[in-house]
Order: sequence, then structure tokens, then C-alpha cells
Amino acid sequence: MTDLIRVEGVTKNYSLGKEKFEVLKGLDFRVEKGSFVVIMGKSGSGKTTFLNLLGLLDKFDGGKYIYNGTDVTGMSDNQRSDFRNKNLGFIFQQFHLIESLNIGQNIELPLLYSGVSDKNKRVKAVKEALSKVGLLEKIRNFPNQLSGGQQQRISIARALVNNPDIILADEPTGALDSKTGYEIVELLADLNRQGKTVIMVTHDEDLKRYASHLVFLKDGVFIREEEM
Ligand SMILES: Nc1ncnc2c1ncn2[C@@H]1O[C@H](COP(=O)(O)OP(=O)(O)OP(=O)(O)O)[C@@H](O)[C@H]1O
Ligand SMILES: [Mg+2]
Repeated sequence: MTDLIRVEGVTKNYSLGKEKFEVLKGLDFRVEKGSFVVIMGKSGSGKTTFLNLLGLLDKFDGGKYIYNGTDVTGMSDNQRSDFRNKNLGFIFQQFHLIESLNIGQNIELPLLYSGVSDKNKRVKAVKEALSKVGLLEKIRNFPNQLSGGQQQRISIARALVNNPDIILADEPTGALDSKTGYEIVELLADLNRQGKTVIMVTHDEDLKRYASHLVFLKDGVFIREEEM
């Protein structure tokens, strides 16, 4: 199997005044194309920090990161955001939709950021992404007119619109009731069956069963489940 992600010896520190606080302590991590990786661990264990590094939202202090054969370790801020817009899709616990834009405009944003200048092409991609999450009829609505579950589906459509290889999801069910949360994870599982690689951070033990690979983070290192 081909590795979509290969990370070696990744470290991340935060400094609080003069004190240095080591959040990630030399992580090795590989993700095969097509897998559904679930990352679990107690609050404060570094899950979000790690996912943000994988998603090139943040810089790490040490180690090496190869994404689909490309060394992305030393990229500049501009290169990283460009790479992110073209290759990665994100969803967050709190959806992060822009309230002043309608649903269609929210989903269009990543296309604008990545320089898709043809309006017709953008409209087509937005409609395709919305159809995949079953909410095409909401294209002119605003985020505050949608339920939490619908808003999360919209944020999945936004993550899909650039046709990324991978979706990174940080507690995507955290703000939803359990039934709606399951619907969201089922949707991610469907996308995974269609070939998208998924990395999901969750606290929910019941969601472990979706994992093709399950990892546990504790105090900045990966551990076995029994050590949790
Ligand atoms: N910007 C920052 N500056 C300083 N410390 C930070 C910063 N972001 C995170 N931390 C610290 O790093 C540690 C890991 O945080 P992180 O958000 O990655 O945890 P988490 O596993 O996602 O937790 P949760 O399950 O609560 O979301 C925590 O101790 C946190 O306080
Ligand atoms: Mg977190």
C-alpha cells in the first residue's frame, strides 16, 4: 500500500514565557491511502495540535513530513496554504462557516482561494459537493437557518469541493447529539468507501468501530489502548 502521509519524529513545543512546553514528543505516523484513521486521547493530549500539523495549519518544530511523496516539511507559509487548499479538506467541531455568506458562497470559498477563476466551473463544483451531502436545496440559505447536523454536512461539502485526497476531522460530532453525530460519521464512512482517506479525532468510544487504524495519544506520544 502507498503511504499518503509519512511523518517522522515530529515535535511541537509551545512556550509560556520562558518555559518551554513540549506537546508532541517525536511522533512517527503513517497513513495508507484509503484508510480511516481514528485518533483518540484525553483532553490536552495533543490531538488537535497533531491534526493541525498534518493539515499544514501550523508549523512543527522538528521532524519530517512527507505528503504523497512530496516533502512538505520546509514549505513557506504561502506554499503551505496553497498546498492545503489544493490537497486537504478540513472539518471542525464548530463547523466554522461564515455567517454572512450563504451556503453556496461558503462552499465556493476554497475554490476562490485556490484560484479557480472560471465562475461556471465553481458553480458546478459547489453543486456537486452539495449533492454529495444531500443538501443542494439549501444553496441560498444562510448558516443560521440550518440545524447543527446540516451545518456540519455543509462544512463537509466545503471540505470536498476541491476534491482533496484526504479529510481531516477534529471532533466532527462534538457539537451534535449522538444520532446526528452518527449520520455525520456515516457520511465520512461513505466518502471513505468512495476512496477518500479520513483522519478523525474523537472522544467518542462508540466511533472506534469506524476505524481501519486506531491510535491513542497520551502526553504527546502514541501508546497502546491498554495504556490509556
Ligand atoms: N497556542 C497554544 N499555546 C500554548 N499552549 C497550547 C496552545 N495550543 C495548545 N496548547 C497546549 O497543548 C496541549 C495540547 O492541546 P491540544 O489542543 O492539542 O489538545 P487536544 O488533545 O486536542 O485536547 P481536547 O481533547 O481538549 O481538544 C494542551 O496542554 C494545550 O494547553
Ligand atoms: Mg482538540
